[in-house]
Amino acid sequence: MTHRPSNRRRNSWVVSLLDVQPADQILEIGFGPGLAVAELSRRVGGSGHVYGADHSDVMLRQATRRNASAIAAGRVTLSRAPVDQLPATLGGPFDAILAVNSLGFWPAPAERLNELRRLLRPGGRIAIAAQPRCPGATAATSRHAARTIEALLTGAGYTGTRTETLGLDPPVVCVLAVNPDPARDGGSS
Ligand SMILES: C[S@@+](CC[C@H](N)C(=O)[O-])C[C@H]1O[C@@H](n2cnc3c(N)ncnc32)[C@H](O)[C@@H]1O
Repeated sequence: MTHRPSNRRRNSWVVSLLDVQPADQILEIGFGPGLAVAELSRRVGGSGHVYGADHSDVMLRQATRRNASAIAAGRVTLSRAPVDQLPATLGGPFDAILAVNSLGFWPAPAERLNELRRLLRPGGRIAIAAQPRCPGATAATSRHAARTIEALLTGAGYTGTRTETLGLDPPVVCVLAVNPDPARDGGSS
């Protein structure tokens, strides 16, 4: 998974869309071999921190090896945890949450997105990316995936959804959205 050039491009492209700020507290769900975590940890500064949760021991080991120096420097914390049992000690509130090719594996993704929104600070952003891997996947498959993610995010209370596309084969789609800020938007979350 790690060595496919498309995996590197997909992960660094998603990170580039997140507009990472030096003090950001960021959570990735389903970090796999830790490519996005490595990119994120290069972008956060001394007061920022990257957290990750993945339910696989194998992925935790790979990502821990890849990010060993950032972990030792106190900029990254990785946990083995399924998305529906995130540890209370995980951290937060977060400025940004992301998941790359992971949401399709989650149990009850609508509920998970709702729980994740409560871990975001008001105004915090989320990026959910997908590159369909089913045989015969096309640009239409990617567009369908984006519409599904948009509907899930809206249903879970996020606002301002926007979809970006990376022209791989099949295309990668990334849906970005925001946890509404009642103080700024005049609504309730
Ligand atoms: C296809 S891999 C993508 C890995 C990485 N995001 C990337 O793009 O390189 C999906 C990842 O999601 C993780 N995952 C799947 N279901 C999960 C769950 N319920 N909770 C946490 N992680 C999960 C898997 O262990 C795996 O690392």
